[in-house]
Parts: sequence; C-alpha cells; structure tokens
Amino acid sequence: MAAMVEIRDARKVYDGGFEALKGVTLDIEEGEILALLGPNGAGKTTLISCICGIAVPSSGEIRVGGHDVVREYRAARALVGLVPQEVNLEPFETVWNTVRFTRGVFGRPRDDAHLEDILRRLSLWDKRSSKINALSGGMKRRVLIAKALSHDPQVLFLDEPTAGVDVELRRDMWQIVAGLKEAGVTIILTTHYIEEAEAIADRVGVINGGRLLLVEEKAALMTRMGRKELRIDLHDRLDTVPPELAEFDLALEDGGRTLVYSYDTAAERTGISRLVAAMAEAGIVLRDLRTSQNSLEDIFVGLVHDGEDAA
Ligand SMILES: Nc1ncnc2c1ncn2[C@@H]1O[C@H](COP(=O)(O)OP(=O)(O)O)[C@@H](O)[C@H]1O
Ligand SMILES: [Mg+2]
Repeated sequence: MAAMVEIRDARKVYDGGFEALKGVTLDIEEGEILALLGPNGAGKTTLISCICGIAVPSSGEIRVGGHDVVREYRAARALVGLVPQEVNLEPFETVWNTVRFTRGVFGRPRDDAHLEDILRRLSLWDKRSSKINALSGGMKRRVLIAKALSHDPQVLFLDEPTAGVDVELRRDMWQIVAGLKEAGVTIILTTHYIEEAEAIADRVGVINGGRLLLVEEKAALMTRMGRKELRIDLHDRLDTVPPELAEFDLALEDGGRTLVYSYDTAAERTGISRLVAAMAEAGIVLRDLRTSQNSLEDIFVGLVHDGEDAA
C-alpha cells in the first residue's frame, strides 16, 4: 500500500530566490509518529506548509492519501490537521465557536458530541465559553490542537507544539499524541527538542539547510550511531595511561582516578572483557564500573555539525 504521505524531490524557492527546500524525498506511513528534527531555519515549517497546501512547492510532487496536494488540493487538505507554529486565533471568539467553525470550514456536518469529546480530552471543556484572549498561552495551544482535530484528520501536523510551553503541558501533549496514534492518526511533529523526539517518535528525520540528512527508526538510529562509555574508577590514582593499555584508546579523568573507555554499541565485540583482563594483568585495581549511553542529542549535534562542515 502506498504511504500516507509521499514526498518526491520537493523543492521550495521563495520569492527573492532563497531555496528553503533542496529536494526532499520522504514517505510517511499510516499510523506512525515521525519527528522532524532540525535547528531554526532548517526548513521544517516550509516542508509542512508544502504538504498542507499553505505553500506551493516549486518543483517535485507531494501526495497525501494518494491525492496530489496541488492538483487535488481539497481532497488532500481534508485529510490533514495542522497545528501551526504561530498562534493564529480569533481573540474575541469563544473556544467552542472557534472549534465548531473550523469543522464547518472543512464541510463536515455538525457533531457537538464529537467536539465535546475533543475538548474534554484536551482539558478545555470547562473553558468552552471563555474567549480566546482570556486564555493562557498553554490553553491557546490546546485550542490550536482542538481546532486541528475538529474535522477528524487522518494526518496531523504539529509544528513545534511544545516550543515555550511548560513541562506539564509538554507531558500532556505527549500523552495526547500517543492517544491519537492509538486511534490510528498519522502524526508528524517538528521540534528542536531532541528529548521530545526521543520520548514519542517511532521514526526520526533530521533536516538542516533544506535537506533531509537522514530518516531512521529511532531505536535503530540510537543503536547504530550510539556509543557507550565505560567509566572505570580506580583504586589508585594513575599519572598516565599505562602503555599496556594503549590499544584501548582510554582517557584519564578525575585527576587520574577514572579511566574512560568509549566503544561502539553496534560492534560485535565491545572489547570490555579484554580491557578488564589487560587491566588485571597490568596490576590496576578497579573500584567501580559504570556505563552511559549517549543520547539522540549527541547524535543530532554530531550530524548537524558534519552537515555544516560539508557545506
Ligand atoms: N515566506 C518566506 N520568504 C522567504 N524566505 C522564507 C520564507 N519563509 C521562510 N523562509 C526562509 O526559509 C528558511 C526555512 O524557514 P522555515 O521553514 O521556517 O524553517 P524552520 O521551521 O525549520 O525554522 C529560513 O531561512 C527562512 O528564513
Ligand atoms: Mg518552523
């Protein structure tokens, strides 16, 4: 079956000549959560705008549910819910009317019970009669999500949904996203919080300078690119790494009290048992061992930097 969202060599050149997307190709499968990671100006919002029909790609092809986003705009757009990066709500409208109106725009029949359910899930039901301008920033974000869900989209785009929100709302948001996935909604979120991708995504795409640097299963990405550190606390301080241990490329830290061994988690042999044996041979007494795995954050920073070096 074709992917829910198909992007083929999408390019976007803005008026003035700036090329914000330099040929992006990507398939997004039904029911998955894809996190698009990238620094400010990477092209995340541009890509989403092209998929949602807010911006027109300069070349390439984008389909949602099999519908071309330019030639079959209405059919494609009807499948999509968008939570924009910027709050764009009518300040004097009530929460209830805001959400009801959006459903109407998409030509869906009135369904108050359904809207009530959405508002309840987003903890907005008590605020349904409040005017938008009386709401906190976090509540406004919830309204944006309610709006985006009002017409039962099959694909939901969240453009930096948790930028500048408090920790509590961020956790709520993650839960809401998980619930939507359960209901079969395909979700694409952009973020520059790596922690967020790590917490909720099935797949991670990294975008920088208008190019998709990689897309991969989160778990596989972390295993493939992940390195682990083994930190070995020593009984006696060392001045230098003994020559017998040279092949392990160890670092000496904490004033000579800790040896740090860095190894590849994907390698067949980590070399740990050889290292421990070599240390015993050299007469070095261990006090403690700890391992730590580097995070998606380290991987991401490494990738984006490599990209800059290549540019
Ligand atoms: N309407 C526009 N006209 C010209 N340049 C734009 C426009 N919108 C965005 N850009 C530029 O395109 C690049 C990508 O922007 P954007 O897609 O908003 O990035 P992100 O969402 O990843 O921060 C940026 O350099 C930005 O300045
Ligand atoms: Mg953006």
